[in-house]
Amino acid sequence: MKTTKNKTNKTKKSATTNRLKKRKNGKYSFKEDRLQLQETVANYKIKPSKLYHHENSLWIYNNDIFTIDSLSDKSIDLIVTSPPYNIDIQYNSHDDTMSYDDYLSFTRKWLERCFAFLKDDGRFCLNIPLDKNKGGQQSVCADITTIAKQVGFNYHSTIIWNEQNISRRTAWGSWLSASAPYVIAPVEVILVLYKKDWKKISGSRESDITKKEFMEWTNGVWNFRGESKKRIGHPTPFPVELPLRCIKLFSFVDDTILDPFLGSGSTLLACLQTKRKGIGIEIDKAYCNLSKERILNARRQISF
Ligand SMILES: C[S@@+](CC[C@H](N)C(=O)[O-])C[C@H]1O[C@@H](n2cnc3c(N)ncnc32)[C@H](O)[C@@H]1O
Repeated sequence: MKTTKNKTNKTKKSATTNRLKKRKNGKYSFKEDRLQLQETVANYKIKPSKLYHHENSLWIYNNDIFTIDSLSDKSIDLIVTSPPYNIDIQYNSHDDTMSYDDYLSFTRKWLERCFAFLKDDGRFCLNIPLDKNKGGQQSVCADITTIAKQVGFNYHSTIIWNEQNISRRTAWGSWLSASAPYVIAPVEVILVLYKKDWKKISGSRESDITKKEFMEWTNGVWNFRGESKKRIGHPTPFPVELPLRCIKLFSFVDDTILDPFLGSGSTLLACLQTKRKGIGIEIDKAYCNLSKERILNARRQISF
C-alpha cells in the first residue's frame, strides 16, 4: 500500500514539475506571475484574499459574492454573468430550490453588490431565463429587470439568445387541447444594463470587434447552441461564445471584466481570448478548480 501511495505522489510531483518546466520554457513562470500579481494588486486595487488561482491577467476567487471583500467599488468595466436560475439544479454548494420570493431577495442582494463594483460608465450583461415554468409560471426576466432598476441600474436593451435546443421540450400541459396548454419559448435572454452613463469614456478606447461581428451582434437575436454539461463537467455552463460577444461588443481591450458566478470559467476563457483582465468569483472549490484547468488547457493550446 505504502509503495503505491509513494509512487502516486511521485507521479503527481513529477507531473507538476514537468508542467512548471513547460510553462517556464513557454510563455511565463510562476515567479513572474507572482511579481505581476503584486503589481496588479497595487495598480487595480484587487486584494489577494481567498485568491484560488491567478495567472497573467486572470483571477479566480473561491468566495461568495455576498461577502467577498477583495474587490474595490467602481473598479469594474463590464460584468458578464449567469446566476443560478433556481430551477432545482444540483450544484455542489448552492441550494437551487428557494421560494420565488426568496430567489428575488437573493437576486436583489447580489445585484446591489455588482452595482457597487461597477465604474460609473460600467455595463452589465446578465444572462437569465425569459420565464420559468418549473414549479409555477413566473415572469423571471421582467421581475429581475424591475429589481435591477430599483437597485439603480439603467436599462439598455434585451438580447434574445436562441439556443436552438428544442429537444429540451417535454411539458405540453394539455396535449392537443385548449384546456391548459403550455407555451414555452426555447430561448434565454441577456439583459444589458449600465450604471450611470451609457457612453463609455474610461479604458483604452481600443475596440477589437470586426465589422461583420458588429453588424451581426447588434441585431438583438443571437443564434448559437448551448454548451454541453457533460463535456464541461458543470451542471449549467454557458458557451464561451456568449461572454465573448458581450466582451467584444461592450468593452475595450484591457478592460476589467467580472463574473460573480464563475461556474466552469467560461467568462475567463473569453477574457483570455480577447486580452481583457478577468475576475471570477465562485463559491464552490471544485468548480474553481475546473475553471483553472480549463484556463491552463486553453493557454497550453495557445502556446503550442
Ligand atoms: C449558472 S452557474 C454559472 C455557470 C457559468 N456561466 C459557466 O459557464 O460555467 C452559477 C454558479 O454560481 C455559483 N454560486 C452560487 N451561489 C454563489 C455565491 N453566493 N457566490 C459565488 N458563486 C455562487 C454556483 O456554484 C454555480 O457554479
